[in-house]
Amino acid sequence: MSETKRLDRFLTECFEISRSVSGKVIRAGQVSVNGKIIRDASFKTEIGDEVEYAGQRVEVYDKLYYMLNKPDGCVCANDDSHNPVVFVHMRDVPGINSCHCVGRLDLDTTGLLLVTNDGQWSHRISSPKKHLGKTYRVMLADPVTEELTDMLRKGILLAGEKKPTSPAEVEIRNDHEIDLVIYEGKYHQVKRMIQAGGNQVVALHRIAVGPLALDPALEEGQYRRLRRDEIELF
Ligand code: URA
Repeated sequence: MSETKRLDRFLTECFEISRSVSGKVIRAGQVSVNGKIIRDASFKTEIGDEVEYAGQRVEVYDKLYYMLNKPDGCVCANDDSHNPVVFVHMRDVPGINSCHCVGRLDLDTTGLLLVTNDGQWSHRISSPKKHLGKTYRVMLADPVTEELTDMLRKGILLAGEKKPTSPAEVEIRNDHEIDLVIYEGKYHQVKRMIQAGGNQVVALHRIAVGPLALDPALEEGQYRRLRRDEIELF
């Protein structure tokens, strides 16, 4: 799982400087590894090495795995010209620039978002072939009907799609709230399914991805590292 990383690349990821600036500051003797100045940009760092630059010391990390309780109003992207990105809530994570979101939630969807720099792990979670259930708590504009729950459970042919959605699991929590488990990740899928069933989503919150549930201790905008046993669920 572990890999060594060139010093210039590590600096670029951690300190938000370009590769050419990182090469320059290394050659200028402004960077030390474990207390020793290193002037070679291709120097291979090891996991656990301490890299110091511009008064900041950062430990060389391996793969990173986090869960974020995504708040409303931020986008699942590394850059966006209109809205803040989810990573603004994780600015103090060393190496966050090397990370991406595992799948996407809409701007106004809240809840469990996985963030990693391990492409193979995120592929195992997102791949449609894995049929991993994603559980959403759905607040509805109108009271839930049997017609809607039957449609969700059978599968719905959404506008512009060739095949109906695969059967979803539905648990009714109260008149206006259901927990819905879906096994695909089509664009705005939950909102489109609910709309096709004659209702509207007023709030959408993801509570689990496969067997991994959102930590109830996390407030919106808070994150934590995943434990080894949680990483190994996928
Ligand atoms: N379905 C939606 O409609 N939106 C999301 O953010 C996730 C699933």
